[in-house]
Amino acid sequence: MNNTSILFKSLKVGELNLPNRIVMAAMTRMRCNNDTKVPNDIVADYYSQRASSGLILTECTLVSQRSNAFPGCAGIISEEQVEGWKKVIDAVHKKNGRIALQIWHSGRATHSNLQGGQIPWAPSPIAINGVNYAVKQPHEVPHEMTTEDIKLVIQQFKEGAYRAKKAGFDAVELHGANGYLVDQFLRSYTNRRNDQYGGSVENRSRFCLEIIDELVQVFGKGRVGIKVSPVGRYNDMFDEDPVKLYTYLFKELDKRQIAFIEIMNSKDEENAYGYGHPASEKQVPNLLQLLRPSFKGVIIGNVGLTAQTAAQGIEQGLFDAASFGTLYIGNPDLVERFKDNLKLSDSDPKKYFGGNHEGYSDYPPYQG
Ligand SMILES: Cc1cc2nc3c(=O)[nH]c(=O)nc-3n(C[C@H](O)[C@H](O)[C@H](O)COP(=O)(O)O)c2cc1C
Repeated sequence: MNNTSILFKSLKVGELNLPNRIVMAAMTRMRCNNDTKVPNDIVADYYSQRASSGLILTECTLVSQRSNAFPGCAGIISEEQVEGWKKVIDAVHKKNGRIALQIWHSGRATHSNLQGGQIPWAPSPIAINGVNYAVKQPHEVPHEMTTEDIKLVIQQFKEGAYRAKKAGFDAVELHGANGYLVDQFLRSYTNRRNDQYGGSVENRSRFCLEIIDELVQVFGKGRVGIKVSPVGRYNDMFDEDPVKLYTYLFKELDKRQIAFIEIMNSKDEENAYGYGHPASEKQVPNLLQLLRPSFKGVIIGNVGLTAQTAAQGIEQGLFDAASFGTLYIGNPDLVERFKDNLKLSDSDPKKYFGGNHEGYSDYPPYQG
């Protein structure tokens, strides 16, 4: 018997019925129109080729003009974008797939040169150490958001969710990972506020939970999820006590009975990316074991998984489904390849970001 067979067992995720437990992780590929942020026909091709996945999580998609961190990223702030996404969703649904929008604000991880001179927003005026790769200039000290700014952004998430629903998405995943705005509020290194949005774990979780509450209002609790990276170092991130913070957050998400939490179980080395933070695994070696009891809904494991390690993680009860990023780039039929134990194709990292269909929607299914 195939010892990865558990990956092909169906799974109920909130109101969604997944035919398998192989999730396509969110991946920014920067193929949308740079000015309009509208997903086009090649974006529809790309996602529909991957429709056999239990659930597709889209690339991070902005809810505000102040979130413009990548040229060619997608948006959910205009009617034109809704129309573009409709084509993507229809193409995925025609192939019996399910697709959730990853809804996103970049916070301090953008640059004024990418958004008409507007300074990035963040919980506290602390710049990312180093250079913004898109504009090749040092990261800027962000504007410290006022309470009004916070309310505005929560409203933008709500409006984004309305548009996502109108477009026909099956669910929505809040991007709470990788050092973007929600994560910047959550973790102590980037949140030095002393109002009701900073300080204690309760206060640092408030922004995230207020957004979740709005998403639930729009989509219903069974169609809302979140992605978190409690020990990730990407974008210069650190929290002094991630177990305390995320235990609280998971319990609050549990009360709200949202459909899923996707956890990045990062394996970043000491001083990953040159920021000087301690190694992820050294800080919390058994993250999944520690957090699992705090959330009764579906947990999606992520980072560096193979068919074998994903199946093992599910068998051990660490998570219920597994998401795959990099492997999905070169293997649109990842589910079938895992199932039949077929050879996996490599992908070309030079074509990950930006460009046309090459290195994007031209990876064929298994050729034999
Ligand atoms: C090209 C590329 C783009 C990515 N863009 C996003 C993104 O938009 N949102 C997100 O949450 N994660 C993003 N990620 C991270 C992946 O979703 C995933 O968490 C990561 O690749 C680890 O999974 P893997 O080891 O299976 O690749 C990206 C990863 C890659 C390789």
